[in-house]
Amino acid sequence: MSKAQQLKAITKRIQSLPTLPQVVQKLTTMVESPDVTAKDIGRLLNSDQVLSAKVLKLVNSPFYGFPGRISSISHSIILLGFNVIKGVVLSASVFDLMEQSMVGLWEHSLGSAVVSGTIGRHLGLSEPEEISTGALLHDIGKVLVRVSLSDDYEKIKSVVLSKGCSFRDAELEVLGVDHAEIGSWLAEEWGLPERLAIPISFHHEPETAVKFKDRVAVVHIADSIVRAFGVGSGGDAFVSRISPQAWELVGMDRVDLPLLMKKIYSDLEEVDNYQL
Ligand SMILES: [Fe+2]
Ligand SMILES: [Fe+2]
Repeated sequence: MSKAQQLKAITKRIQSLPTLPQVVQKLTTMVESPDVTAKDIGRLLNSDQVLSAKVLKLVNSPFYGFPGRISSISHSIILLGFNVIKGVVLSASVFDLMEQSMVGLWEHSLGSAVVSGTIGRHLGLSEPEEISTGALLHDIGKVLVRVSLSDDYEKIKSVVLSKGCSFRDAELEVLGVDHAEIGSWLAEEWGLPERLAIPISFHHEPETAVKFKDRVAVVHIADSIVRAFGVGSGGDAFVSRISPQAWELVGMDRVDLPLLMKKIYSDLEEVDNYQL
């Protein structure tokens, strides 16, 4: 079976997608309309108080660079843009699923968002907030496996233990596809823009991305750094190897690495104290 066929077979077995609040579905249609305003979106999100409180907390978190300064949803849209807000709303919605069973993954995702933002800004890349949001969502496929394919999830976990392999290798063994591929399918189902979907799809094989190579590389690098710093958990004890091409592509070979690592360390410390 080809990967595409395997993915199709798996997604057929998924009876229910993680349930997203209706507000999120409405938001998806709304952001596609050319004349939607920040006010319209603000009004929609404010109709779900729990969600809007979580979104405000996330946009005020250390990785967006406006800690504690964004007071309303419409203000956050003006500062961060529709794509970031859409990604944040999705993260806040799936967070509940992660919180119950996957605290380690949520911390890993937050950590990756922080490190991606720090690297993106350090390298002077454009739209570091979007890069952070892509990082926040990069392992979303794992949530789907946990929530919608729970038998397979248990099998994957026992393969990790019995073979001492990575979570991703165990996924490939059990499912035939990995969480990046599942995440990519999910991103399409949820109508995520390519600038967020591509880092999800290619974060383990950044060389193969044909678009947005720089942000894919940053998310890929951040993913490993966060693991190396021991923040959160990715389902196994490994720090995945960083692609040398990705490293060079964004110019990591030319930065003052000890200085950047110090900055990353202190930014990650802030996340340690951060709870949703
Ligand atoms: Fe991953
Ligand atoms: Fe990851």
